[in-house]
Amino acid sequence: MLANARVVALLLALSVAVITTSFLTLVEGISLITLILCFVLSFSSSYILSFITLEFFIFGEINKIYDRLNALKSENLSRIQFQQRKRGGSNPISKINDEIFTYAEVKQREIEELKRSEEFRRQFIADISHELKTPIFAAQGFVHTLLDGAVKDKTVRTKFLKKAAKSLDGLDTLVQDLLTISQMETGTIKMQFSHFNLYKLICEVFDQFESKADKKDIQLMMDANIDKEAFVYADEEKIYRVLLNLISNALKYKREEEASFVTINAQRTGDGWVEVNVADNGVGIPKEDIMRIFERFYRVDKSRSKDKGGTGLGLSIVKHVLEKHNSNIKVISQVGKGSVFYFKLKEGKPEEIGMELEKTAKP
Ligand SMILES: Nc1ncnc2c1ncn2[C@@H]1O[C@H](COP(=O)(O)OP(=O)(O)OP(=O)(O)O)[C@@H](O)[C@H]1O
Ligand SMILES: [Mg+2]
Repeated sequence: MLANARVVALLLALSVAVITTSFLTLVEGISLITLILCFVLSFSSSYILSFITLEFFIFGEINKIYDRLNALKSENLSRIQFQQRKRGGSNPISKINDEIFTYAEVKQREIEELKRSEEFRRQFIADISHELKTPIFAAQGFVHTLLDGAVKDKTVRTKFLKKAAKSLDGLDTLVQDLLTISQMETGTIKMQFSHFNLYKLICEVFDQFESKADKKDIQLMMDANIDKEAFVYADEEKIYRVLLNLISNALKYKREEEASFVTINAQRTGDGWVEVNVADNGVGIPKEDIMRIFERFYRVDKSRSKDKGGTGLGLSIVKHVLEKHNSNIKVISQVGKGSVFYFKLKEGKPEEIGMELEKTAKP
């Protein structure tokens, strides 16, 4: 490049030296040696000063800007080493440089975010197609077998129709669960908060599971110290669903060789919350899976859950519901020992029970 720092500094220094020396020639009686000395001194000092200024404050920074612009153009943003950025220089060109860095950093993050959501979308479509395929293929198989002649045999007909119906019921549950998750994500489902007695709700859930637990020979019990006066301010129907999911999991993932139990407890924490926990002595969850069990369709052991008919959406719904309650679900688990799922709900006021209904009932 013709206009590099050295050439420009040389030209500037030459001009300064020539101008200074020309002016000095106007002084009467000045010797040639003084003039030469003055030329050399002004040339060398101007050269050094201009070179340093141009090289470090202007050309150096401009070259960095070019590098970054090229990286941006070629979309090779990883070439830009953000961590090496030095901020806060007073030089305006250095400030422009900083601006470009910041811009590139923001864009880099945006691109990464887009890539992540694209990957998530792709994975979600793959998962959902896979999950839908299974019950559809099963129902399709039974119906076609019936159409191909099995319909004439009365016992086979009933058996196959029942199996087809079961597959379609599973499909219905899957679609309902997905709909619930997506409505919660988009905010279409509004929470209906009210004050209610959590202990009573737990009793209702227990009624639902009693015979199932008996059949599986699992002892379903409440903690001896459960707080019967634990009132919460929450969406009763959604919390009912959370408890259903957690207890159904606790019953599902039991250890065959052990005498199984599932215990539920609810206690006021004293600082405006009620803590609920569901404990089991089932199969437990490996450490590496704990963070992922709340993801849609995630199952620890796909084949094991398939036998038990799960779709891997239960805990995802639990997580979404609790997030809508400004809370979150936590788990402690050990393989071969069992798991404890726990969460908190805002404490409610017994005197406010029914108030919301009155409020909405009034015109
Ligand atoms: N109490 C538990 N003990 C052991 N593993 C559990 C327990 N609860 C959940 N898991 C593991 O976490 C996974 C995700 O649970 P989740 O409830 O989301 O799905 P699922 O039970 O497989 O299906 P769904 O609830 O939709 O019928 C389960 O497949 C299981 O592997
Ligand atoms: Mg489940």
